[in-house]
Amino acid sequence: MRDIETILVLTGAGISAESGLATFRGPDGLWEGHRVEEICTPQALARNPALVQNFYDIRRAALAKVVPNAAHHALARLDAEWPGELLIVTQNVDDLHERAGARRMLHMHGELKSALCRECGGRVRWEGTLADGPACPLCGGKGGLRPDIVFFGEMPYQMERIEEALAEADLFVSIGTSGAVYPAAGFVQTARYRGAETLELNLDPSAGSHFFHESRVGPAGLLVPEWVDEMLGRRAAA
Ligand code: APR
Repeated sequence: MRDIETILVLTGAGISAESGLATFRGPDGLWEGHRVEEICTPQALARNPALVQNFYDIRRAALAKVVPNAAHHALARLDAEWPGELLIVTQNVDDLHERAGARRMLHMHGELKSALCRECGGRVRWEGTLADGPACPLCGGKGGLRPDIVFFGEMPYQMERIEEALAEADLFVSIGTSGAVYPAAGFVQTARYRGAETLELNLDPSAGSHFFHESRVGPAGLLVPEWVDEMLGRRAAA
């Protein structure tokens, strides 16, 4: 296997499942019982702000009741000990990677603990609810704060940085994502085209499994620590 210097990791809802946070698709998924168009689009927010704000208020409050699992901690260990380049791109809006200690990371779909002001465009850390229309701490605008979440139809965050990481990666690892939503679902093809090794760690085969050089099926809490041990062990032996 080629020397691995630069690693790009993509995570999805599956990495947080063992912490007790619901995924989107599959049994008891967040989208079960909701139509995405009613909840996760700018039009939905304009049409029914209370429903949308409340959906995210409930998910934000749920974060206080969950903790990072072994997969989050293993990635944080890799982040701390990997001497080469590493970037964790998460589609998740929870804060479990950070709470496990990950630093070299970004949220491409936004964060529950951040709010965006539609009046001034400012971004603020936010722990409480938004449904009651609080004033923006930056501009004082009333009712302008919305969840800092990338809705369907909006551009994911930091795509330039992600594209750069995809161009440089020696290894692309996808963890806990169904490969249902672009552009994230296309990252494996870009990485492979650029010559990277590609590995999938997922509970079930995903829509993109056939694009990966290797796919391991199982819970992230088991597969990710094993993989991190492999990477750090191989590095030490090199
Ligand atoms: N360990 C590993 N993988 C798991 C586990 C687990 N314990 N539990 C579930 N999975 C896998 C499922 O097999 C599935 O492939 O995680 C994946 C979750 O898929 P989705 O629910 O579609 O979540 P995700 O891929 O993150 O969705 C991508 O879609 O709705 C939008 O913006 C939202 O970021 C989200 C994006």
